This record gives sequence, structure tokens and C-alpha cells, in this order.
Amino acid sequence: MKIITDLQEMYKHSICLKKTHKISFIPTMGALHNGHLSLIEKAYYNNKNSKIIVSIFANPSQFTNFEDFAKYPDTIDSDIKKLKEFEISKNIQIDCVFIPEKNNDFYSNKKYPQLQKFNINKSEIILPQFFSESEGKTRKGHFEGVFQVLFRLFYIISPDYSVFGQKDFQQTLLVQYLQKQYFPHLEIIIADICREKSGLAMSSRNKRLSAENKNKAKILYQALQTKKIETIRTILESEKLIEKIHYIEIRNTTTFELMDKKVMNEVSVILLSVQFAGIHLIDNILI
Ligand code: PAF
Repeated sequence: MKIITDLQEMYKHSICLKKTHKISFIPTMGALHNGHLSLIEKAYYNNKNSKIIVSIFANPSQFTNFEDFAKYPDTIDSDIKKLKEFEISKNIQIDCVFIPEKNNDFYSNKKYPQLQKFNINKSEIILPQFFSESEGKTRKGHFEGVFQVLFRLFYIISPDYSVFGQKDFQQTLLVQYLQKQYFPHLEIIIADICREKSGLAMSSRNKRLSAENKNKAKILYQALQTKKIETIRTILESEKLIEKIHYIEIRNTTTFELMDKKVMNEVSVILLSVQFAGIHLIDNILI
């Protein structure tokens, strides 16, 4: 498993790989957990001959709150260790892990003039209205930031496949939107939510919860399983650690239209987003 930190080197390496292989790409922000590893496994079983590239980059442009960015877990050494152990235990080879240096160079046109065309300013990104709703409303500018980083990563790495987890449901719609607009040859693969034994959806943010609070956070999934908005709200309101319920919504899985609870059907998803013991947590369940 090679480690590449330079953007230009990553670009050249991908060009080289593409001469002989397809590329499967798993973008992450680090603080890796089994959910991330399941995305790599999914990529492998989707195409065993493809070369697997994992990126680790806590993209500042998708954080709307500097404090949240500053607190985002930085566990690069243990992330690399996890990837190496994963390779051995699963007998799956990761071709390389791309870890852009931690400064403003990632989006810098000065440092990488040749890669300038693979850059888009956040202010130029105009997304469909529904990306300002739900998570886009709670975290203004978040999806523009995700769009910006994936736009650059997809151009640099030029993957044939890219895998995303369904936990970030609205993000999966964003990725599909980006793909349709700019990357017609890329196949987006969506992987099921990975859960702890308790039912809590795996997330890098869970690392910031104490063991006791992490156990209590299982209430999110327990509530979702009732699949009834009022019941979900009542259950969540009973938990003192939930400081704020940002939203509990039923949406169409394709158009993301809000659905009336009376007309929910098999193409709907119930989404929830809360502030739990100081941590922003989201989860969802398909109906
Ligand atoms: O889902 C994430 O971890 C991030 O939003 C992503 C896709 C790696 C972009 O920074």
C-alpha cells in the first residue's frame, strides 16, 4: 500500500494505473472505522481486479463551523495501521492511500497550476434547492463543500467506481448529481449503513462520545425502527442527552421531496439529525 501526499504525484499515479486497470475509489475524512472498511470491501467485491485507492482528507470547505472542524478526530497513524491490518485480514490489496498535506495546498492553483482546471470555487457551485434543506439547512454550505472536494478528487484520481455509505443519505444524492453532471463514466456504488451491535450507525464522530454516551446513542436507531415520526420524536425527546432535534423527515429517496406521512411508501426514507451530547449525529432508515 503506497502512501501518496502530493496531488501531482497522485494524478500521475492514477494515469499510470488506468492504462491497465479500473480504479475503485473510497474517499474518507479519516478516523476510520469498520463502516469505512466495509466500503473498501464493497469496492473489492464489485470488481476484484480494480485498483483500490482510499483518500483521507478532512475537507475544511465542508465544515460550516470552525470548531467542528477543529474537533474532527485526527488519527492518521491508526488509520494507516487499520488499513494495513484490513489488507492482511481480508486479503484485499489497497493500491494506495492518498493523504493530501494538511494546509491550503489542496485547492491551491499556484502550487499545482497544471491541475487548475480540476478546481471549482465553492461560490460557483449552484446546487438544486433540496441541497439547502435537511442537512444542508442545518449545515449551510456543507454540500457545496462536499461537491467541491469530490469534484477535485474525481478529476485527480479519475475513478471508474466510487463507494459511499448510505448513512449520509443526502450526500449520496449529491454524489449522484455530481456524477451525472461531470463524470458520466463513473459508477457510484452505495453501501448499506454499518451499525454497532447496539444499532448505532457507525460514524467518525462517535469517537467523540464517551462509552456510556455511545451506548445511549443507540436510542436514535431504536426510535427510527418504529418508522413513525411522532413516536420517533417522543422517544428522542425523552433522552436528556439530545440537546436539539434538527429534523425528523420522511423524503422520497430519489427526488428528496418531503412526503406526507400518510403517503409514505417503499421509496421513502426517514431521516433524522440531532445534537447529541455536543455531537452532531445523523441516521436514516428506508421504508
Ligand atoms: O462522507 C465523507 O466522509 C465526506 O463527506 C467525503 C465524501 C469524504 C468528502 O469529504
